[in-house]
Amino acid sequence: MTPKLKELIEKLSACRDISSIKSHLSNTDIGASDVADYVRFENGGYSRNRVIKTDRFEVLVLCWKPEQKSKIHNHAGSVCAFKVIKGALKNTNFVQEGGKVFLTSANKLSLSQYIVLSGVDNFHEIANDYAENAVSIHFYSPPIEHYQVADQESDSQLIEEVVL
Ligand SMILES: [Fe+2]
Repeated sequence: MTPKLKELIEKLSACRDISSIKSHLSNTDIGASDVADYVRFENGGYSRNRVIKTDRFEVLVLCWKPEQKSKIHNHAGSVCAFKVIKGALKNTNFVQEGGKVFLTSANKLSLSQYIVLSGVDNFHEIANDYAENAVSIHFYSPPIEHYQVADQESDSQLIEEVVL
């Protein structure tokens, strides 16, 4: 683990509120070379690579080839924060109402941009809509044990899923 990655994990793990998570993500200049040990691109879908998991938080490195995307999901009771450290990603936000999700906004996250999400009714989808491979670093507090996905093919019904 590089000193920069170790420092970021130490700072994030000490956070007690969203504004300090934002501040640390904003201030770090961590790059893909700092997480090289966790970068692998797969053909079948984006890859999730765990850096560390404790009782209080979890850090993952996600690797996205062009056209790979997540499902529309929430984070149950966890705070999710992530930063693009290679390439770019599209983040689309949805809000859950009455068992269905509705699109609220979509943004391109360029290199070094980050977002923080929380709240069981807030869903999002991350997609590599761009030509380059992308890498993002994700921080979840507490670690996600389960979450919900919305399946657009079935009229956006919510389905409980377990994270392995
Ligand atoms: Fe997420």
